Amino acid sequence: MSVNQLWGGSVTRLFSTMTKTRAANPRYNMSDVHLLSIFRLYCAFWHTILVREVTISMVNEQVQVKSTTAAASQDTSDGAPVVRLEGLCKSFDEGGRQRVVLDRVDYEFARGQFVVLLGHSGSGKSTLLNLISGIDRPSEGHVSILGTRITTLSERDRTLFRRDHIGFIFQFFNLIPTLTVLENVTLPQELAGRKGRDLEPAAMHLLDRVGLADRRDTHPDKLSGGEQQRVAIARALLHDPLLVLADEPTGNLDDATGERVLALLLELTRDAGRTLLMATHNPDIAPRADRVLQLHDGRLVEVKQ
Ligand SMILES: Nc1ncnc2c1ncn2[C@@H]1O[C@H](COP(=O)(O)OP(=O)(O)O)[C@@H](O)[C@H]1O
Ligand SMILES: [Mg+2]
Repeated sequence: MSVNQLWGGSVTRLFSTMTKTRAANPRYNMSDVHLLSIFRLYCAFWHTILVREVTISMVNEQVQVKSTTAAASQDTSDGAPVVRLEGLCKSFDEGGRQRVVLDRVDYEFARGQFVVLLGHSGSGKSTLLNLISGIDRPSEGHVSILGTRITTLSERDRTLFRRDHIGFIFQFFNLIPTLTVLENVTLPQELAGRKGRDLEPAAMHLLDRVGLADRRDTHPDKLSGGEQQRVAIARALLHDPLLVLADEPTGNLDDATGERVLALLLELTRDAGRTLLMATHNPDIAPRADRVLQLHDGRLVEVKQ
């Protein structure tokens, strides 16, 4: 029964009950003022019910819209490139002058590729990765990830999207010194509202994969640079992202350690079907990549496909 039927039927029933009571029992001798007060109370009661019902149905509708959107983004991601850049521009204000770092960049990255992004220091590699991850916003143009145009999302929704779909690895590891290795790995997902206890088995599995399971209770300052980056790799992969962005992940490591970290990263990303986009100024990494792009004068040029 709808609220309207309930409401209409009840008012009719109330009036007929009150009229019958007054006619059958004159001792009640209800005045019209009494009748009006009872009617007002009755209206207030049903109004509360009505408002509650409408609110619940609105909330349900919103939940449905949200889950439809989520499902749609999953659906359209089938076949959609992992990353699509459309007319992407980024300028920074420098003493009143606009310094153009990215100038109308258009590109698509397919699933499971290892893409290397080359460019000298200051060419805009970190800027581009920050735009793709949604950490920063472009001056113009759009970024779509797995079919979702993240540049049109609010800051909060971009953050949520990043937490669900993207793993980020930094040059300087960005581990929290006061937390243990295991706590560092689980922290981003705990901030997303998941319980550390529930995350522990997957985190330990990843720590095992990066060869650091026995260091779970150690603090980062007791680890070498290579070990710290391996913890950071485990942290970036805990939510099983399809897209991993790495900003000079071997830039702070010696050659041999950097080589081992790169091999591990490739094993856990491309070899596992994920897309890895890595910024580096080290051209020696290029031969290992599926595609090599170079940033020059704000434009993205394909060096190897
Ligand atoms: N927040 C910012 N404000 C002003 N200029 C910036 C900002 N971020 C980056 N830049 C400038 O943009 C250019 C590209 O920087 P970046 O993307 O860090 O280069 P790369 O990672 O290739 O070394 C540099 O000239 C840098 O100074
Ligand atoms: Mg950089």
